[in-house]
Amino acid sequence: MQMEKTVKDSSSAPAIPALVPQPVSVEYGRGCFVLTADTTLSADQASASTAVQLAAYLRPACGFKLATAAAAGRSGTVIALNQDKDLADLGPEGYRLEVTPQRVSLSAPTQAGLFFAVQTLRQLLPPLIFSAHCVKNVEWRIPCVTIKDQPRFGWRGLMLDTGHDFQHLPFILRFIDLMALHKFNVLHWHITDLGTFPLEITNYPKLQDPSTLGTRLKGEPKRGVKPGRYTQAEVREVVAYAATRHITVMPEIDMPGHSTPALLAYPEYDCPVPHKTWEFERWEYCVGNEKTYGFLQDVLSQVIDLFPSKFIHIGGDECPKDHWKLCPVCQAKMKAENLQNEDELQSYFVRRIEKFLNSRGRRLIGWDEILEGGIAPNAAVMAWRVEKQAAAIAAKAGHDVVVAATSHLYFDYSETTTPLEKVYGFEPVPQDLTPEQAVHILGAQAQMWTDNHPTEKEIERLVYPRACAVSEIVWSKAEPRDYSGFVQRLGVHAQRLAALGIDWQAAG
Ligand code: ACM
Ligand code: ZN
Repeated sequence: MQMEKTVKDSSSAPAIPALVPQPVSVEYGRGCFVLTADTTLSADQASASTAVQLAAYLRPACGFKLATAAAAGRSGTVIALNQDKDLADLGPEGYRLEVTPQRVSLSAPTQAGLFFAVQTLRQLLPPLIFSAHCVKNVEWRIPCVTIKDQPRFGWRGLMLDTGHDFQHLPFILRFIDLMALHKFNVLHWHITDLGTFPLEITNYPKLQDPSTLGTRLKGEPKRGVKPGRYTQAEVREVVAYAATRHITVMPEIDMPGHSTPALLAYPEYDCPVPHKTWEFERWEYCVGNEKTYGFLQDVLSQVIDLFPSKFIHIGGDECPKDHWKLCPVCQAKMKAENLQNEDELQSYFVRRIEKFLNSRGRRLIGWDEILEGGIAPNAAVMAWRVEKQAAAIAAKAGHDVVVAATSHLYFDYSETTTPLEKVYGFEPVPQDLTPEQAVHILGAQAQMWTDNHPTEKEIERLVYPRACAVSEIVWSKAEPRDYSGFVQRLGVHAQRLAALGIDWQAAG
């Protein structure tokens, strides 16, 4: 009974398309297009694989595979995908989508833009199009509409933390699919942290060995950590899966702090000073030791090989520097390099790592602590500490910035602490920037930390629906912002996500 009711309620397309994120321009027409087994999918050569993606999205719920060439004499409706260089003014991710009763036309200057047009088209259909199972008795209507759309920011991210707690590969692929639906384009993969170093680095097998954790402390491994490992083949699978969805996977290997698992596995890169159990949290590499640089360059070389991302994130956050103060090797390095304090020692370390990454054609990005002691010349800053005004300081100094504000965009905090309306109201560009400075704000992202060991299901419930709000912050126009309109659209969007297995309105 319940199922029948759901089908009936969702059988017609919403009168006003409830799109998330809201496109730049939507003009409504009269009537609608009806998708049937007779509809033909047509695509120019450049768009053939995007057309295959569209057909694959529609098939499970519709139960039919769209024909890619019209049969002789058939006069069915058409969905056409075309790459059109004349639409270059829409930018590298913009698109145009026109629906008439006979034809749906998706066009864009790039395949990325066309892929985002496909995401919008999915949302124009009844929400049950997102069902994994064939849905009967639904007329697959698409309202007549003309949409012109392009993102506000080039960096639209979510961060997933697998360094406190491991998540399985199918979960990560699903996380990417959900990102694609909301037109995110950067998965910041926070791979290593206090809990585990799950990434396979050949020649350093102990990094992935969970039994290493705690052996030096004669204590337990960090409580609650779900250990696990990603082979390099699995990492390549994630990167390729994301790339077909126009999402860049940016890896983060946290250093010099937040490095406990690596230092328990390879103590030769740790400062030769005693540790106490309570210090388990954030051990830092011995950056006075030349061998540490050799190790980290080995690790980063493999990271570069695995991840085509232009940016490589090296963490840089919350390094206690306590051991450096006591360490004769670090102190000798400070003297030799004429460094006045431990902040400058961290800055020295980051500059060396940046030089290495730049020599391999990549750019360094780090949490905003990399501003302390002097920022590396080409570094980009991930601004998380709102109270430090890091985003404004870095942008004024001419550095690129990704805004990751703890106050609004940390989704490990509950919805009581950081409610949906607060997230929706966030503005990434600090008020006091000139237009020239504001260009350095590349975009924003939400963070999903796993220090509290949420299950994979709990992670999704923490991320959604708040990530829907973030998708509007980074994609839609800055003005006008209408929270009640967003909540109304979210009512329909909730049905889509429920069909995908995220049901935040269900009890429990
Ligand atoms: C951070 O939250 N430690 C970047
Ligand atoms: Zn040291």
